[in-house]
Amino acid sequence: MRHAQGITSAAALAAVDAIRRHFAQRLAQNGEAPEIAAELANVLVLLESVDFAQADAAHLRASHHPVIRQLQSLVTAKTADVERAILAAFLPHLDVLPWRYSYDARADHPGLETRMAWSELVGPIAPFSSRKVCIGLTAIGPHTLYPVHAHPAVETYLVLSGAARWTMNGITRTQPPGMLILHPSNVVHAMQTDTEPLLAAYAWTGEVETLSSYSTAG
Ligand SMILES: [Fe+2]
Repeated sequence: MRHAQGITSAAALAAVDAIRRHFAQRLAQNGEAPEIAAELANVLVLLESVDFAQADAAHLRASHHPVIRQLQSLVTAKTADVERAILAAFLPHLDVLPWRYSYDARADHPGLETRMAWSELVGPIAPFSSRKVCIGLTAIGPHTLYPVHAHPAVETYLVLSGAARWTMNGITRTQPPGMLILHPSNVVHAMQTDTEPLLAAYAWTGEVETLSSYSTAG
């Protein structure tokens, strides 16, 4: 059920469940690298400690972030079936999600704060509260660089739409929908979109209460 003021707790839970089911499915298929499989298992265990019966209404409210306008050319046709369940859970609610962007403005990337944002559904600042695990959605508009950054939390991304160039430790790879990308604690990373916007689900574990910060080299 869509709500003009924000996403409902039922819709937010359905979106989290779609991600959780996908992670469980990928783990069961046994086709991931050992470090990714171990982190997926870690995320799934930590999600068991979250109280999904209680949603904080303040964090369900729509923020009407301008990144929504960057997502109008989302390419979903090329997305594999396994990711489609997650997209189906999120796409009807993109314009009413609690999007945010918590970096300071950068003179060398004017307007970046209008071209990317994330919406967290599980975490310290999220409708479903946790200090151990975060689940959310990151959106980056076309032709946008998310500059080099790092954070102590371990991060797993699942690409849902858009083939961006992902850089970690100076190595850049194009990652199409369906790819799982693991960023270990404090490892510097960046993303660069081309003509398509990027939509990716993410999970954080470990020190999730420390925000990400831009690296001086970026
Ligand atoms: Fe990150």
